[in-house]
Amino acid sequence: MTVTLRQASGYDLDALYRLEQVAFSGDRFSRRQLWHLLNRAHALTLVAQRGHRDERPVALLGYGTLLFRRGSRRARLYSFCVHPEGRGSGLGRQLLEALEDEARARETEVLGLEVRVDNAVALGLYRRMGFCPERWLSDYYEDGCAGWQMAKPLVAFEEAASRGEG
Ligand SMILES: CC(C)(COP(=O)(O)OP(=O)(O)OC[C@H]1O[C@@H](n2cnc3c(N)ncnc32)[C@H](O)[C@@H]1OP(=O)(O)O)[C@@H](O)C(=O)NCCC(=O)NCCS
Repeated sequence: MTVTLRQASGYDLDALYRLEQVAFSGDRFSRRQLWHLLNRAHALTLVAQRGHRDERPVALLGYGTLLFRRGSRRARLYSFCVHPEGRGSGLGRQLLEALEDEARARETEVLGLEVRVDNAVALGLYRRMGFCPERWLSDYYEDGCAGWQMAKPLVAFEEAASRGEG
C-alpha cells in the first residue's frame, strides 16, 4: 500500500473531521476549530493518505498539526492521530518524523507537546523519539485527566548557540 504524507488544504476539512471523530475518545476538535487550523497562517497540518498526493481520498489515515509563534523557535504539536485501522504499523512514527522535519525546515529548535498520562502508546512513542517530560499538567483534559508537557530539542546545542541563542 502506498502511503503519502502531504500538507493539508481546505479540501481536507470533511475527511479530517471524520478522522477526528474516530481517532479520539474525547477533547475532539469541532469542524470550526479544524477549519481555523487549516486556514491559520501559523499552523501546519500534514495528512497521511492511501495512494498518491493528487488523489483526494474520502478517508485519511492520520494527521498532525504544528503551531508556530512569530518570533519563537519553539513549536507545538497541537494534534496528532492515526486512524484506528492504521495503527501499529509505524505510521504514527513516520508522521511524527515528517512533522519534526517540517518544524526544522522552519528553524524550530524545540518541539513541545502535551499528552494524557494514561495514553501509554503515545507516551512510549514520544519518549522513544526523544521527548522528555517538562511539566506535570494537573486536571488538564476535559475529563479531569492529568497530562505531561513534553519537549524535544530539534537541533544540537552547538547549532542553537551558533545562532546566538545558546
Ligand atoms: C498515538 C498514535 C498516533 C500512534 O500511532 P501508530 O500508527 O499506532 O504508531 P506506530 O505504529 O508508529 O507505533 C508507535 C510505537 O508505539 C508502539 N505501539 C503501537 N501500538 C501499540 C499498542 N497498542 N501497544 C503498545 N505499543 C504500541 C509501536 O510498537 C511503536 O513503537 P516504536 O516507537 O518502538 O517503533 C495512535 O495510537 C493514535 O492515534 N492514538 C489516538 C490519538 C492519540 O492518542 N494521539 C496522541 C495525542 S497526544
